[in-house]
Amino acid sequence: MPFPVHRPRRMRLSENLRRMVRETNFSVGNLIYPMFVVPGDGIKLPIKSMPGISHFSIDLLLKELQEIQDLNIPGILLFGLPEKKDEVGSGAYDPEGIIQKAVAAIKARFPDLIVITDICMCEYTSHGHCGIIKNNQVDNDSTLEFLAKIALSHAKAGVDMVAPSDMMDGRIGAIRKILDTEGYSQIPIMSYAAKYSSSFYGPFREAAESAPQFGDRRSYQMDMANAQEALRECAFDLEEGADIIMVKPALSYLDIIYRVKTKFSVPVAAYNVSGEYSMIKAAAQKGWIDGTKTMIETLTSIKRAGADIILTYFAKEAALLKSRT
Ligand code: PBG
Repeated sequence: MPFPVHRPRRMRLSENLRRMVRETNFSVGNLIYPMFVVPGDGIKLPIKSMPGISHFSIDLLLKELQEIQDLNIPGILLFGLPEKKDEVGSGAYDPEGIIQKAVAAIKARFPDLIVITDICMCEYTSHGHCGIIKNNQVDNDSTLEFLAKIALSHAKAGVDMVAPSDMMDGRIGAIRKILDTEGYSQIPIMSYAAKYSSSFYGPFREAAESAPQFGDRRSYQMDMANAQEALRECAFDLEEGADIIMVKPALSYLDIIYRVKTKFSVPVAAYNVSGEYSMIKAAAQKGWIDGTKTMIETLTSIKRAGADIILTYFAKEAALLKSRT
């Protein structure tokens, strides 16, 4: 007879008791802050669909990064918006491109900050898809060569880690191979291994101007209903040389994070995506929820599910809160 001998409430009676037995704590060291960099000078342009997040030109990005470093956030994930787009996304591998220039500038000023770049073509292509178009389809194999070229150009600019998010088959192997043959075998790959085709990317596509101009991404990103397939995707990427595997989005996919963490003994990242962020911000602005508490609950749940690393637009806010408590 458990009750009345057992009373779980005993251990919940005060904040200090709760702290003592708390099973999950995320720390600032687990967070990566995604940021958007744009050409120009003196630009800090708030992104309407993502309250608190802005587009930065390189000069003001550097100012912002001082704050990020002071908050002890270990790394950032960089997205770039190019000057102009074309069919093959050539802005993505231009040695003088926005990401290449930003990475070089950041590493010169903040050598210890882990700078990670998103490897994808959708911000750079005129059609907004993540690869090369052939016969109205995103062509897998010809895209690999471009992705490898993009990764190499980021490596040459001094990036610390690359994160391919395009969901082409074989891209981890292609990127690992070019990095290794060109003398960058020390650069890790964080693979967006289980990336689902998701409505939660809506605000990001406005921020990155990367919405597909025809069709959608369902022919390359995963079907939301599949879990076994996520494990296969992770296994392939690990065989091809991924160092970290990511599940994205996070909140509707906590079960996937759990399964991936249980099955593979490698660091697992989860991307708390734009829609997940903006829903909380919007509801908080309306006074319908407490934004700060919901943020902590969200980040804790992602950690509890098994993520070692959380990519989140809340990183700065969460780190600020932790520094005060
Ligand atoms: C690029 C990419 C996307 C996100 C990260 N990298 C958008 C997409 O796949 O359409 C989404 C991030 C977010 O919603 O916060 N392919």
